[in-house]
Amino acid sequence: MKPALHAIDTALSLPSYTPTSNECALFEHAFRHRLPVLLKGPTGCGKTRFVAHMAARLGLPLHTVACHDDLTAADLTGRYLLKGGDTVWTDGPLTRAVREGGICYLDEVVEARKDVTVVLHPLTDDRRILPLERTGEELIAPDGFMLVVSYNPGYQSLHKALKPSTRQRFIAIEFGFLPAEQEIAVVAAESGLSPERVRPLVALAHRFRALQGHDLEEGVSTRLLVYCATLIAAGTPVADAVLAAMIEPLTDDADVKAGLREVAHAVIG
Ligand SMILES: Nc1ncnc2c1ncn2[C@@H]1O[C@H](COP(=O)(O)OP(=O)(O)OP(=O)(O)O)[C@@H](O)[C@H]1O
Ligand SMILES: [Mg+2]
Repeated sequence: MKPALHAIDTALSLPSYTPTSNECALFEHAFRHRLPVLLKGPTGCGKTRFVAHMAARLGLPLHTVACHDDLTAADLTGRYLLKGGDTVWTDGPLTRAVREGGICYLDEVVEARKDVTVVLHPLTDDRRILPLERTGEELIAPDGFMLVVSYNPGYQSLHKALKPSTRQRFIAIEFGFLPAEQEIAVVAAESGLSPERVRPLVALAHRFRALQGHDLEEGVSTRLLVYCATLIAAGTPVADAVLAAMIEPLTDDADVKAGLREVAHAVIG
């Protein structure tokens, strides 16, 4: 069994995040009123950064779990482990977040096994309880506990979709890419490349994003733009950086790649 990848961060500085709409206020209200939050949007559009930013802003520890298709309820809640001849109960990341307070962030929650919903349901309605069958405990989530989940609707297959009874336990916020001027500012700030040099990269990203659903499964993410600008800031020639960070990660199809290179040549030169 693959272990649950998780990390606990207590940010000392505020991770920078540029809002697209009212998401910061919504998130804060949700936290104050003990409502769980679901974030949806394409890869690399800022969901994880947003959660890190809000956790730091609200002064909450952040327990992040990257969900995968082997992730079970026990990976989240905990299990008895053998330690020096004894079996000792060891809390999983969800249980730890419920005991200690803070945000538990389940990234790509649709990937997790179906039994995960069994532990999420009582925790995400007004009971806010986490029953631990194995230890016989029933934990009541403190006010400082918040559950946040995210997924990318673009990758959803029917058998992986969240059930309505799960979805309807969350406030949901949709994420998209930032408007051009703001995306230029973010990519420049993250990479150190000047806004004037970032501008054509963002223009190219817009052209590629328009191909989504036709030749491309998903368009260029803000993350890839940051990678591309970082390579250029480090001295990589623009055409090489664009190929490595904005074309190769998008497709393996030789014809599609050739088409993207043509577009890149027309936009960037
Ligand atoms: N609104 C934003 N403000 C600041 N930085 C942003 C924003 N959106 C994207 N970024 C940049 O893009 C990078 C990728 O964002 P992030 O990792 O949050 O994406 P994600 O939506 O969680 O993607 P995935 O679904 O693949 O996990 C960030 O590390 C950051 O550099
Ligand atoms: Mg993420």
